[in-house]
Amino acid sequence: PLHEATVSAPVNIAVIKYWGKRDSKLILPTNSSLSVTLSQDHLRTRTTVRAAAEFSSDRLWLNGVEEDVAASARLCNVIATARQLRAAMEQADSTAPRLSTWGLHVCSENNFPTAAGLASSASGYAALVSALGALFELPQSATELSRVARVGSGSACRSMLGGFVAWQAGTMDDGSDSLAEQVAARAHWPQLQALVLVVSDRKKTVSSTAGMQTTVSTSPLFAERVRSVVPHRMAAMRAAIVARDFATFATLAMQDSNQFHAVCQDTFPPIAYMNDTSHAITSLVHAFNAAVGRVAAAYTYDAGPNAVLFVLRDDMRALVQLLTRCFPRPAAMSADAFYADPFAVF
Ligand code: DP6
Repeated sequence: PLHEATVSAPVNIAVIKYWGKRDSKLILPTNSSLSVTLSQDHLRTRTTVRAAAEFSSDRLWLNGVEEDVAASARLCNVIATARQLRAAMEQADSTAPRLSTWGLHVCSENNFPTAAGLASSASGYAALVSALGALFELPQSATELSRVARVGSGSACRSMLGGFVAWQAGTMDDGSDSLAEQVAARAHWPQLQALVLVVSDRKKTVSSTAGMQTTVSTSPLFAERVRSVVPHRMAAMRAAIVARDFATFATLAMQDSNQFHAVCQDTFPPIAYMNDTSHAITSLVHAFNAAVGRVAAAYTYDAGPNAVLFVLRDDMRALVQLLTRCFPRPAAMSADAFYADPFAVF
């Protein structure tokens, strides 16, 4: 008999950035990070996993194209870890079908550009692990399963939970305390909205994985960030979210994005993820805040030129008006319906 499960997972946008590993096989980070999980309306991965005794090997199709599972150590690690959890269940219950010994077929599909710095690996591995969890009927919580997603891609562990999520760096060598926990549910702050500005949907030039390792080994600014900046910022960001203090949330998000890109610039050779349009969007957000006389919008950029803006619902209309006036022909711009009201896609 065929066993099957389908699950979708959203992307998450870090407001305190993960950048740097202390263990690159287990994917253990040098610092804790904090993110906002977006809704699944615009950016998500949907994954179906099937297990059957007659499947002779594990196979995976990504947006309809078959990938070589054996060539990806991360994919193999994730599947092997999930199988171990299933095998433990089968040992405890002799009537459970031996799914852990069957081959798997995985079909994964995302509705946004892959590897353009839009967190495709995050939603991809989170969807895979959630689907395996459903298929194998694993009893583990989302936080416990976040350890499995982390082995696929660090930022993926945060997409296992909704709302505001902290990935605790942890201190253990085996990674058992390096997992994602919810800081607050999405419903805690319904006025907060995210706007995704797609500046470019091209594949990024330097992958996060390669870029962050060069940073760890060459940037003195990075060492300082990990030691003296992030611990304080994690605490302040958590408090701002709990208090729904937008000005503090927004200021910290902008400062942390800026420091992450400064660290990329301090990497040798330097890594430039933002482009001229990204910098123009940054200036526009500061001009908007100056014009309204308060911190009403924030930007953040990951390993690519695309911007994610955070804004409270009441200020969204004014911000979008300004953006459309200043960028009359954006490459593409889509609103993430993180909190209700999907609006026009330009
Ligand atoms: C800039 O999670 O893609 O988006 O763990 O090597 O797969 P690997 O890296 P990845 O890095 C994401 C970096 C970032 C910041 C963040 O999401 O926190």
